Amino acid sequence: MNEVAFVLQKNKRILSANYVKEFEAMFACPICHSTMKVMESKSFICSNHHTFDFTKQGYVNFMTRPVNGKYNKELFEARRNLIVDEGFFEPLNHEIADIINAYSGNTISILDMGCGEGSHLNNISMIVNKDVVGVGIDISKEGIKSTSKNYNDKIWAMADLANTPFQDVTFDVILNILSPSNYTECNRLLKTNGVVIKVVPSSGYLKELRERIFANRSYSNMNTIKRFQENFRFVDQKRLTYTKILDKPAIEWLIQMTPMTWSKKEKVITFLNKESVQITIDFDILIGKNNL
Ligand SMILES: C[S@@+](CC[C@H](N)C(=O)[O-])C[C@H]1O[C@@H](n2cnc3c(N)ncnc32)[C@H](O)[C@@H]1O
Ligand SMILES: [Zn+2]
Repeated sequence: MNEVAFVLQKNKRILSANYVKEFEAMFACPICHSTMKVMESKSFICSNHHTFDFTKQGYVNFMTRPVNGKYNKELFEARRNLIVDEGFFEPLNHEIADIINAYSGNTISILDMGCGEGSHLNNISMIVNKDVVGVGIDISKEGIKSTSKNYNDKIWAMADLANTPFQDVTFDVILNILSPSNYTECNRLLKTNGVVIKVVPSSGYLKELRERIFANRSYSNMNTIKRFQENFRFVDQKRLTYTKILDKPAIEWLIQMTPMTWSKKEKVITFLNKESVQITIDFDILIGKNNL
Protein backbone atom coordinates (compact mmCIF):
# COMPACT_ATOMS: atom_id res chain seq x y z
CA MET A 1 0.00 0.00 0.00
CA ASN A 2 1.38 3.44 -0.87
CA GLU A 3 1.68 6.21 1.71
CA VAL A 4 -1.36 8.21 0.49
CA ALA A 5 -3.62 5.14 0.61
CA PHE A 6 -2.35 4.33 4.11
CA VAL A 7 -3.09 7.85 5.38
CA LEU A 8 -6.59 7.81 3.78
CA GLN A 9 -7.42 4.49 5.41
CA LYS A 10 -6.13 5.66 8.78
CA ASN A 11 -8.24 8.78 8.42
CA LYS A 12 -11.36 6.82 7.62
CA ARG A 13 -11.09 4.86 10.86
CA ILE A 14 -10.51 8.06 12.87
CA LEU A 15 -13.23 10.06 11.07
CA SER A 16 -15.75 7.33 11.60
CA ALA A 17 -14.82 6.83 15.29
CA ASN A 18 -15.10 10.57 15.91
CA TYR A 19 -18.51 10.71 14.20
CA VAL A 20 -19.86 7.69 16.10
CA LYS A 21 -18.58 9.16 19.38
CA GLU A 22 -21.35 11.80 19.11
CA PHE A 23 -23.89 8.95 19.34
CA GLU A 24 -22.11 6.61 21.77
CA ALA A 25 -25.02 6.85 24.25
CA MET A 26 -27.05 4.69 21.83
CA PHE A 27 -24.71 1.74 22.25
CA ALA A 28 -24.70 -1.18 24.71
CA CYS A 29 -22.15 -3.96 24.92
CA PRO A 30 -23.41 -7.05 23.03
CA ILE A 31 -21.73 -9.26 25.67
CA CYS A 32 -22.64 -7.68 29.05
CA HIS A 33 -25.10 -4.93 27.96
CA SER A 34 -23.28 -2.18 29.87
CA THR A 35 -22.68 1.30 28.44
CA MET A 36 -19.92 1.89 25.92
CA LYS A 37 -17.46 4.63 25.08
CA VAL A 38 -15.41 5.34 21.97
CA MET A 39 -11.77 5.45 23.07
CA GLU A 40 -8.72 6.92 21.34
CA SER A 41 -10.63 7.23 18.04
CA LYS A 42 -10.25 3.53 17.44
CA SER A 43 -12.37 1.25 19.68
CA PHE A 44 -15.63 0.93 21.54
CA ILE A 45 -14.98 -0.22 25.12
CA CYS A 46 -17.67 -1.15 27.66
CA SER A 47 -17.49 -0.59 31.40
CA ASN A 48 -16.39 -4.25 31.78
CA HIS A 49 -13.60 -3.69 29.24
CA HIS A 50 -15.05 -5.68 26.33
CA THR A 51 -13.50 -4.07 23.28
CA PHE A 52 -14.75 -3.76 19.68
CA ASP A 53 -12.61 -2.08 17.04
CA PHE A 54 -13.36 0.35 14.26
CA THR A 55 -11.99 -1.19 11.08
CA LYS A 56 -9.88 0.63 8.52
CA GLN A 57 -12.98 0.82 6.30
CA GLY A 58 -14.80 2.74 9.06
CA TYR A 59 -17.35 0.23 10.38
CA VAL A 60 -17.35 -1.27 13.88
CA ASN A 61 -17.05 -5.01 14.28
CA PHE A 62 -19.40 -6.10 17.10
CA MET A 63 -19.37 -9.80 16.34
CA THR A 64 -18.79 -11.99 19.37
CA ARG A 65 -18.38 -15.20 17.36
CA PRO A 66 -17.06 -16.02 13.89
CA VAL A 67 -19.71 -16.28 11.15
CA ASN A 68 -19.66 -17.68 7.67
CA GLY A 69 -21.96 -15.28 5.84
CA LYS A 70 -23.72 -17.07 3.00
CA TYR A 71 -23.65 -13.95 0.81
CA ASN A 72 -20.52 -13.12 -1.16
CA LYS A 73 -19.02 -9.90 -2.48
CA GLU A 74 -20.49 -10.47 -5.97
CA LEU A 75 -24.03 -10.65 -4.54
CA PHE A 76 -23.69 -7.31 -2.77
CA GLU A 77 -22.07 -5.68 -5.82
CA ALA A 78 -24.94 -6.92 -7.99
CA ARG A 79 -27.54 -5.63 -5.49
CA ARG A 80 -25.77 -2.28 -5.38
CA ASN A 81 -25.62 -2.00 -9.19
CA LEU A 82 -29.31 -2.82 -9.52
CA ILE A 83 -30.30 -0.34 -6.82
CA VAL A 84 -27.97 2.53 -7.72
CA ASP A 85 -27.69 2.21 -11.53
CA GLU A 86 -31.12 0.74 -12.38
CA GLY A 87 -33.29 2.25 -9.62
CA PHE A 88 -34.62 -1.28 -9.11
CA PHE A 89 -36.01 -0.48 -5.64
CA GLU A 90 -36.66 3.26 -6.16
CA PRO A 91 -40.49 3.02 -5.80
CA LEU A 92 -39.95 0.93 -2.64
CA ASN A 93 -37.56 3.48 -1.15
CA HIS A 94 -40.06 6.29 -1.89
CA GLU A 95 -42.93 4.34 -0.34
CA ILE A 96 -40.89 3.72 2.83
CA ALA A 97 -39.90 7.40 2.99
CA ASP A 98 -43.60 8.36 2.77
CA ILE A 99 -44.42 6.00 5.63
CA ILE A 100 -41.61 7.46 7.76
CA ASN A 101 -42.79 11.00 6.98
CA ALA A 102 -46.31 10.05 8.07
CA TYR A 103 -45.40 8.32 11.32
CA SER A 104 -42.33 10.12 12.71
CA GLY A 105 -41.22 13.43 14.20
CA ASN A 106 -38.67 15.78 12.62
CA THR A 107 -35.43 14.40 14.02
CA ILE A 108 -35.24 10.65 13.89
CA SER A 109 -32.93 7.72 14.35
CA ILE A 110 -33.33 4.89 11.83
CA LEU A 111 -31.88 1.42 12.31
CA ASP A 112 -31.72 -0.83 9.23
CA MET A 113 -31.53 -4.45 10.49
CA GLY A 114 -29.89 -6.57 7.78
CA CYS A 115 -28.89 -3.52 5.73
CA GLY A 116 -26.83 -5.47 3.16
CA GLU A 117 -24.69 -3.04 1.13
CA GLY A 118 -26.50 -0.01 2.59
CA SER A 119 -28.20 1.62 -0.42
CA HIS A 120 -31.75 1.41 0.98
CA LEU A 121 -30.79 3.27 4.16
CA ASN A 122 -28.80 5.83 2.19
CA ASN A 123 -31.61 6.46 -0.34
CA ILE A 124 -34.39 6.60 2.25
CA SER A 125 -32.40 9.00 4.47
CA MET A 126 -31.94 11.32 1.49
CA ILE A 127 -35.62 11.25 0.46
CA VAL A 128 -37.32 11.74 3.85
CA ASN A 129 -37.88 15.31 4.94
CA LYS A 130 -36.32 14.68 8.37
CA ASP A 131 -32.99 15.03 10.12
CA VAL A 132 -31.80 11.45 10.19
CA VAL A 133 -29.21 9.59 12.24
CA GLY A 134 -28.86 6.44 10.17
CA VAL A 135 -27.50 3.18 11.55
CA GLY A 136 -27.10 0.00 9.53
CA ILE A 137 -26.14 -3.45 10.80
CA ASP A 138 -25.46 -6.66 8.94
CA ILE A 139 -23.86 -9.96 9.83
CA SER A 140 -22.07 -10.16 6.50
CA LYS A 141 -18.58 -8.71 6.36
CA GLU A 142 -18.79 -8.18 2.59
CA GLY A 143 -22.08 -6.28 2.94
CA ILE A 144 -20.80 -4.02 5.70
CA LYS A 145 -17.47 -3.40 3.97
CA SER A 146 -19.43 -2.12 1.01
CA THR A 147 -21.63 0.18 3.16
CA SER A 148 -18.73 1.98 4.74
CA LYS A 149 -16.81 2.20 1.47
CA ASN A 150 -19.72 3.91 -0.31
CA TYR A 151 -21.61 5.89 2.33
CA ASN A 152 -19.72 8.02 4.83
CA ASP A 153 -22.38 9.82 6.83
CA LYS A 154 -23.92 6.79 8.53
CA ILE A 155 -23.04 4.46 11.40
CA TRP A 156 -22.25 1.00 10.03
CA ALA A 157 -21.68 -2.06 12.19
CA MET A 158 -21.09 -5.73 11.65
CA ALA A 159 -23.52 -7.22 14.17
CA ASP A 160 -26.11 -9.94 14.63
CA LEU A 161 -29.68 -8.63 14.51
CA ALA A 162 -30.56 -11.16 17.24
CA ASN A 163 -28.06 -9.56 19.65
CA THR A 164 -27.56 -5.93 18.68
CA PRO A 165 -25.10 -3.50 20.32
CA PHE A 166 -27.71 -0.90 21.29
CA GLN A 167 -29.49 0.35 24.40
CA ASP A 168 -33.22 -0.33 24.94
CA VAL A 169 -35.72 2.19 23.50
CA THR A 170 -33.25 3.81 21.10
CA PHE A 171 -34.78 4.01 17.62
CA ASP A 172 -37.70 5.92 16.10
CA VAL A 173 -37.74 3.72 13.00
CA ILE A 174 -36.56 0.18 12.39
CA LEU A 175 -36.27 -1.05 8.80
CA ASN A 176 -36.14 -4.73 7.97
CA ILE A 177 -36.02 -5.13 4.20
CA LEU A 178 -35.94 -8.63 2.69
CA SER A 179 -33.92 -9.79 5.69
CA PRO A 180 -34.46 -12.14 8.64
CA SER A 181 -36.01 -10.63 11.79
CA ASN A 182 -35.77 -10.89 15.53
CA TYR A 183 -38.96 -9.45 16.96
CA THR A 184 -37.89 -9.54 20.62
CA GLU A 185 -34.87 -7.43 19.72
CA CYS A 186 -37.00 -5.09 17.54
CA ASN A 187 -39.44 -4.44 20.39
CA ARG A 188 -36.58 -3.88 22.83
CA LEU A 189 -34.97 -1.27 20.56
CA LEU A 190 -38.05 0.69 19.44
CA LYS A 191 -38.97 3.93 21.17
CA THR A 192 -42.48 4.05 22.65
CA ASN A 193 -43.96 5.57 19.52
CA GLY A 194 -41.43 4.09 17.13
CA VAL A 195 -42.41 2.21 13.98
CA VAL A 196 -41.03 -0.96 12.48
CA ILE A 197 -41.29 -1.26 8.71
CA LYS A 198 -40.78 -4.75 7.35
CA VAL A 199 -40.65 -5.52 3.63
CA VAL A 200 -41.45 -9.05 2.48
CA PRO A 201 -41.72 -10.40 -1.05
CA SER A 202 -45.30 -10.92 -2.20
CA SER A 203 -46.64 -13.56 -4.61
CA GLY A 204 -45.55 -11.76 -7.80
CA TYR A 205 -41.98 -10.90 -6.71
CA LEU A 206 -39.56 -11.79 -9.54
CA LYS A 207 -42.25 -14.10 -10.91
CA GLU A 208 -40.68 -14.21 -14.38
CA LEU A 209 -37.52 -15.64 -12.83
CA ARG A 210 -39.39 -18.05 -10.56
CA GLU A 211 -41.61 -19.33 -13.38
CA ARG A 212 -38.50 -20.07 -15.39
CA ILE A 213 -36.67 -21.82 -12.56
CA PHE A 214 -39.36 -23.48 -10.48
CA ALA A 215 -42.01 -23.98 -13.19
CA ASN A 216 -44.60 -21.73 -11.59
CA ARG A 217 -44.17 -22.89 -8.01
CA SER A 218 -46.41 -20.54 -6.03
CA TYR A 219 -45.10 -18.56 -3.11
CA SER A 220 -46.97 -17.31 -0.04
CA ASN A 221 -45.87 -14.89 2.66
CA MET A 222 -48.94 -15.51 4.85
CA ASN A 223 -47.00 -17.05 7.76
CA THR A 224 -44.51 -14.17 7.83
CA ILE A 225 -47.32 -11.61 7.91
CA LYS A 226 -49.13 -13.52 10.65
CA ARG A 227 -46.00 -13.63 12.80
CA PHE A 228 -45.47 -9.89 12.31
CA GLN A 229 -49.05 -9.17 13.37
CA GLU A 230 -48.63 -11.33 16.48
CA ASN A 231 -45.44 -9.56 17.53
CA PHE A 232 -46.29 -5.87 17.04
CA ARG A 233 -49.25 -3.55 17.44
CA PHE A 234 -50.23 -3.83 13.80
CA VAL A 235 -50.64 -0.42 12.15
CA ASP A 236 -51.01 -0.97 8.42
CA GLN A 237 -50.02 -3.09 5.46
CA LYS A 238 -49.36 -1.85 1.93
CA ARG A 239 -48.97 -3.79 -1.29
CA LEU A 240 -46.48 -2.32 -3.75
CA THR A 241 -46.28 -3.81 -7.25
CA TYR A 242 -44.37 -2.47 -10.26
CA THR A 243 -42.34 -3.71 -13.21
CA LYS A 244 -38.88 -2.88 -14.55
CA ILE A 245 -37.42 -3.56 -17.97
CA LEU A 246 -33.88 -4.86 -17.53
CA ASP A 247 -31.22 -4.97 -20.24
CA LYS A 248 -28.49 -7.60 -20.54
CA PRO A 249 -26.05 -6.40 -17.84
CA ALA A 250 -28.92 -5.74 -15.44
CA ILE A 251 -30.32 -9.25 -16.02
CA GLU A 252 -26.91 -10.61 -14.95
CA TRP A 253 -27.01 -8.48 -11.79
CA LEU A 254 -30.51 -9.74 -11.03
CA ILE A 255 -29.37 -13.33 -11.31
CA GLN A 256 -26.29 -12.63 -9.14
CA MET A 257 -28.25 -10.88 -6.41
CA THR A 258 -30.82 -13.64 -5.94
CA PRO A 259 -29.63 -16.72 -4.02
CA MET A 260 -32.56 -18.74 -5.43
CA THR A 261 -30.85 -18.82 -8.83
CA TRP A 262 -27.45 -20.01 -7.65
CA SER A 263 -28.15 -23.73 -7.80
CA LYS A 264 -30.11 -23.41 -11.05
CA LYS A 265 -27.49 -21.84 -13.30
CA GLU A 266 -28.37 -23.80 -16.45
CA LYS A 267 -32.05 -22.80 -16.21
CA VAL A 268 -31.31 -19.10 -15.95
CA ILE A 269 -28.85 -19.11 -18.85
CA THR A 270 -31.74 -18.57 -21.34
CA PHE A 271 -32.51 -15.33 -19.53
CA LEU A 272 -29.02 -14.11 -20.24
CA ASN A 273 -29.51 -14.53 -23.98
CA LYS A 274 -32.36 -12.05 -24.12
CA GLU A 275 -31.74 -8.40 -24.99
CA SER A 276 -34.20 -7.28 -22.32
CA VAL A 277 -36.84 -8.70 -19.98
CA GLN A 278 -39.68 -7.29 -17.94
CA ILE A 279 -39.43 -8.18 -14.26
CA THR A 280 -42.17 -7.84 -11.66
CA ILE A 281 -41.39 -6.46 -8.23
CA ASP A 282 -44.13 -7.16 -5.69
CA PHE A 283 -43.89 -6.46 -1.96
CA ASP A 284 -45.97 -6.36 1.16
CA ILE A 285 -44.84 -3.54 3.43
CA LEU A 286 -45.81 -4.22 7.05
CA ILE A 287 -45.98 -1.38 9.55
CA GLY A 288 -46.09 -2.01 13.30
CA LYS A 289 -45.58 -0.27 16.61
CA ASN A 290 -43.95 -1.36 19.82
CA ASN A 291 -45.72 -4.22 21.58
CA LEU A 292 -44.22 -3.75 25.05
C1 LIG B 1 -31.51 -10.65 0.95
S1 LIG B 1 -30.32 -9.72 1.84
C2 LIG B 1 -31.12 -8.12 1.94
C3 LIG B 1 -30.15 -7.01 2.18
C4 LIG B 1 -30.75 -5.60 2.06
N1 LIG B 1 -31.74 -5.34 3.10
C5 LIG B 1 -31.34 -5.41 0.68
O1 LIG B 1 -32.57 -5.48 0.54
O2 LIG B 1 -30.56 -5.21 -0.27
C6 LIG B 1 -30.46 -10.32 3.53
C7 LIG B 1 -29.43 -9.69 4.46
O3 LIG B 1 -29.67 -10.12 5.80
C8 LIG B 1 -28.40 -10.28 6.41
N2 LIG B 1 -28.53 -11.14 7.60
C9 LIG B 1 -28.88 -12.45 7.66
N3 LIG B 1 -28.87 -12.89 8.94
C10 LIG B 1 -28.52 -11.82 9.72
C11 LIG B 1 -28.32 -11.64 11.11
N4 LIG B 1 -28.51 -12.64 11.99
N5 LIG B 1 -27.94 -10.42 11.56
C12 LIG B 1 -27.73 -9.39 10.70
N6 LIG B 1 -27.91 -9.50 9.35
C13 LIG B 1 -28.30 -10.71 8.87
C14 LIG B 1 -27.55 -10.90 5.30
O4 LIG B 1 -26.17 -10.81 5.57
C15 LIG B 1 -28.01 -10.07 4.11
O5 LIG B 1 -27.25 -8.91 3.94
ZN1 LIG C 1 -19.23 -5.68 28.00
